Amino acid sequence: MSRFYLTTPIYYLNGEPHFGHAYTTIATDIVARYHRQKGDDVFFLTGTDEHGNKVAQAAAERGLSPREHVDELSQKFREMTATVDATADFFMRTTDAGHERFVQDFVQRMYDNGDIEKRSYGGLYCTHCEGFWKEDDLVDGNCPDHGVPPEWLEEENYYFLLSRYQDRLSVFLRANPDWVRPKTRHNEALSFVERGLDDISISRETLTWGVPVPWDSRQVIYVWVDALINYLSALTYARPGEDLVKRYWPAQVHLMSKDILKFHAVIWPALLMSAGYELPEGEFIHGYLLMGGEKMSKTRGNVLDPFAVIEEHGVDPLRFYLIREVNFGSDGAISLEGFEQRYNNELANELGNLVSRSVSMIGKYRGGMVPAADPGAVALAELREQGEAMVARSGERFDALELTAALEAIWEYVRRLNRYVEEEAPWRLAKDETLAGRLDEVLLGLVAGQRLAALCLYPVVPGTAVEILRRLGQPRSESDLLLDKAVWGGVTGGGVADPAPPLFPRIETTKE
Ligand code: MSP
Repeated sequence: MSRFYLTTPIYYLNGEPHFGHAYTTIATDIVARYHRQKGDDVFFLTGTDEHGNKVAQAAAERGLSPREHVDELSQKFREMTATVDATADFFMRTTDAGHERFVQDFVQRMYDNGDIEKRSYGGLYCTHCEGFWKEDDLVDGNCPDHGVPPEWLEEENYYFLLSRYQDRLSVFLRANPDWVRPKTRHNEALSFVERGLDDISISRETLTWGVPVPWDSRQVIYVWVDALINYLSALTYARPGEDLVKRYWPAQVHLMSKDILKFHAVIWPALLMSAGYELPEGEFIHGYLLMGGEKMSKTRGNVLDPFAVIEEHGVDPLRFYLIREVNFGSDGAISLEGFEQRYNNELANELGNLVSRSVSMIGKYRGGMVPAADPGAVALAELREQGEAMVARSGERFDALELTAALEAIWEYVRRLNRYVEEEAPWRLAKDETLAGRLDEVLLGLVAGQRLAALCLYPVVPGTAVEILRRLGQPRSESDLLLDKAVWGGVTGGGVADPAPPLFPRIETTKE
């Protein structure tokens, strides 16, 4: 059994959860569920980033203390995790005492290693990024990510001597070209490093909402340093009495979108090198979800509430749509119209219909009992080969975090099964008593194929997958969902097929 530790970014508490957060959390959950199906020892971490200017400002705007503000908002992110059916093993908060303790211990190690110095510095600071920009990086004088002018900030701070790590980082990135995926993001990180790294301020003097610098309590630790350390700190206190650091560190993958690439691909490994920890095994940078052509984010104000879609149609259609519509790793546009189209064409017509046709034919021709035919029958060989190839192919794609390609491989097979129904025309076989054995095989073949598809679909649409197995009279306990059970011969004959209402009732499409 391999261990698999994966993380979402911890989300800023300067606004409510939105589609972008739900997207990363869903994608991470898909990877977590897939690895659990492989039998891996999985730890899936998510949580909230609660310190810093942005959060203190957001609290002040609401007339709340930072503490009241973060307690309330963090809860909403926790609920979002549950609402999108994400199976996080731990929800961390940077205000957790265990985190704060560990952050102090971590920066103390950096200090003891001689990588931190006190200096005075002035620079262009964007509050939205919580970061400094170089003059050259600005677009028309504005922050390239937020389109607002940065402010001049001058303070006496503690500096992390990041420049010392430039060579080690570039050697590391060159030696590990897959460490950041996709490739384009690796190249961006490398070129960022090789353009030259400045030392960075890692404390703030003017701010009180943060973790105190252990050797100078007049300063608090810069929110990004505080936040990045979460991936390690959470393992020190998530399960009191258990050494999860030993069990899970280094992480297999941090997932995020490109807005925070620089922090994760440059600063985080340097911090780890400085404090003397192993580096994570990889990072996967997915694209932005765009609506009406613009990045959806709190700052730009074009927020869409994922909860409305979920409330109306359940969570699986949303999970399916996001992964199907936007190639995971690239930017892509989403819309309600696109959602409704895929829902009707693919979930209702292709998948839902396949299941209901199969169940209803088993009802009509075999009294509702899945025929106990031989899954090894010669007549089923082709469907079997294609099914097992689909299992292998989707697994390879899931392993590579190519979630959209994995889903496509499964979907091709769903379509294949629909064609199979047309080709075999069970309604014709049913008319001829001498073909009864053949009809048994065809019906069993349909169940066996859908069982494989359901097992592979499970990470993306978990509730639907289990429901398909139920309707087809197939076992579906946790151990039945393991991928080593995803073999053709694993189908169970003799079970009862349940003619329940449509899995995905068609929706009336939105008119302009
Ligand atoms: N608090 C930092 C992360 C610290 S991690 C050590 C932060 N928080 S955030 O709330 O702004 O979340 C950013 C992340 O949310 C992105 O990296 C991405 O995972 C997700 N997304 C936010 N908007 C998104 C889109 N429009 N599209 C896709 N993902 C988006 O940055």
